[in-house]
Amino acid sequence: GSLQMFVDPLPQMPTIYGYNNSSGTPQPTSITIGMYQKQWKFHRDLPPTTVFAYGTSAADATVPGPTIEALKGVPVSVTWQNFLPQNHILPWDPTIPTAIPMSGGVPTVVHLHGGVHDPTNDGSAFAWFTANFSEIGPAWTKPTYTYPNVQHAGNMWYHDHALGLTRENLLAGLIGAYIVREPAVELPLDLPFGAEFDRRFMIFDRSFNTDGSLYINNTGIIPSVHPQWQPEYFGHAIIVNGKAWPFMNVQRRKYRFRMTNAANARYFHLSLSNGVYFTQIGADASYLPAPLQLQTILLGPAETADVIIDFSTATATEILMNNDAPYPYPNGDPVDNLNSKVMKFVIATGNPSVPDISTIPTSLVSYQGSTTDPIATTRYLALYEYTDPSGSPTHLYINGKRVEDPVTETPKSGTTEIWEVINLTGDNHPLHIHLATYQATRVQPLTNVDQFTSCMTQQYDALACNVTSYLSGQVLDIPANEKTWKTTVKLAPGTMTTVVVKFNLVETNSPYPFDPTLAPGYAYHCHILDHEDNAMIRPLVVLP
Ligand code: C2O
Ligand code: CU
Repeated sequence: GSLQMFVDPLPQMPTIYGYNNSSGTPQPTSITIGMYQKQWKFHRDLPPTTVFAYGTSAADATVPGPTIEALKGVPVSVTWQNFLPQNHILPWDPTIPTAIPMSGGVPTVVHLHGGVHDPTNDGSAFAWFTANFSEIGPAWTKPTYTYPNVQHAGNMWYHDHALGLTRENLLAGLIGAYIVREPAVELPLDLPFGAEFDRRFMIFDRSFNTDGSLYINNTGIIPSVHPQWQPEYFGHAIIVNGKAWPFMNVQRRKYRFRMTNAANARYFHLSLSNGVYFTQIGADASYLPAPLQLQTILLGPAETADVIIDFSTATATEILMNNDAPYPYPNGDPVDNLNSKVMKFVIATGNPSVPDISTIPTSLVSYQGSTTDPIATTRYLALYEYTDPSGSPTHLYINGKRVEDPVTETPKSGTTEIWEVINLTGDNHPLHIHLATYQATRVQPLTNVDQFTSCMTQQYDALACNVTSYLSGQVLDIPANEKTWKTTVKLAPGTMTTVVVKFNLVETNSPYPFDPTLAPGYAYHCHILDHEDNAMIRPLVVLP
């Protein structure tokens, strides 16, 4: 049977402050966050689920984990500790590139998604560790990561990044939100403010067995090649902040919701019922230059939409947040009764208890010139899905290279590059580049994709394969709500997307040439976790 919707109140994750205010001036601080196996109630009527959860203790650990609130310019150090057991709670696959400790345990490593920090603090997939650091990956450096918070205000998140286990570790619950605040810039905007009216939503999908345990297919799509790996995980229950289809009681006023798609593979195309709309003010870790009124918002995995919803405009007392994104996106199955519903807002009658003095300003934050920088290098990157003769996917690569192959992208710190990203597959892929801030500037459809693909899979050289002769000339614009610095950009199937990438001013101490399996560097990858694990991920070194 299926679970009744909208019976659990929306939880709010605990907050951990990434600064110490006891002297009146915010000072750097140190915190410790552990990873624990525990039981979690995803729904009133579902038996408890065994999960992996982040928290300051086993009792405090939550799914998602605590939200870290940092201040721009105030560094925070986090000691990430692994208290996980000998065996994973989910099936995994040793035939894809995977961290495999000799004596058991669950390999983990934490990446702050969207963070600007040097590579020893980045959480390389090869820098994994098991409980008590009893085994460590070849690129492991230290137990405490320092996040300098040098970037502008915005919404990030932290999550596991262990080689070949990222899809399993996030599915088990290892995600959490991270916010950088910049009061001098943000307070004058008079946006909805404070723990009640400024909330973080972490949205993902899960399926469960009737005993409450997480469901993931135990058998691979081609078991003779990969006994467990499947190309995408889709769950049929939609979870927000750790509850399936929750409800939230709201007042007739404005709220700010920072909504992150924390799913493994599902895209969400969100809308509100009864004529209520979104006003989007930010995307990923940046503000938009001006608010945008939108009926729908499309979020690929790892994307964030920072929105205001004004419930005082509602004529109904109940508003549903719905999803109608096919899965895989955009050419997969249509949504059904279960995965088309996200959550419900229940609007109190009468005026708000305290008058709503927040505003939606006409302009927000414009960042320094960007897409007009001189271009240091143009790179061509091709995403390709390899299949067996029946057409089932065996693995996915970028430019035909493995994650262990030597680094090929070595931009200089502080420079801006163009990445022309060619999607030769039938699916949309969310591209994430560590350390960089970037935005897509145009999308060009490819014609004769099969012919171009057969050239590309011989040599992976877009120029030698004469890519320009395959561009159909119909340049597509980027949606207005994605025209800011992003941490993840969507790549439509059968297109070449032009991405302007600025590498932040953080230098690596890694010697060059660089071995991704031995030295901590950065990575870029598809954020569909099942793709990232097998192995649509490549190393990235930012040179001084
Ligand atoms: Cu959000 Cu490399 O990951
Ligand atoms: Cu992908």
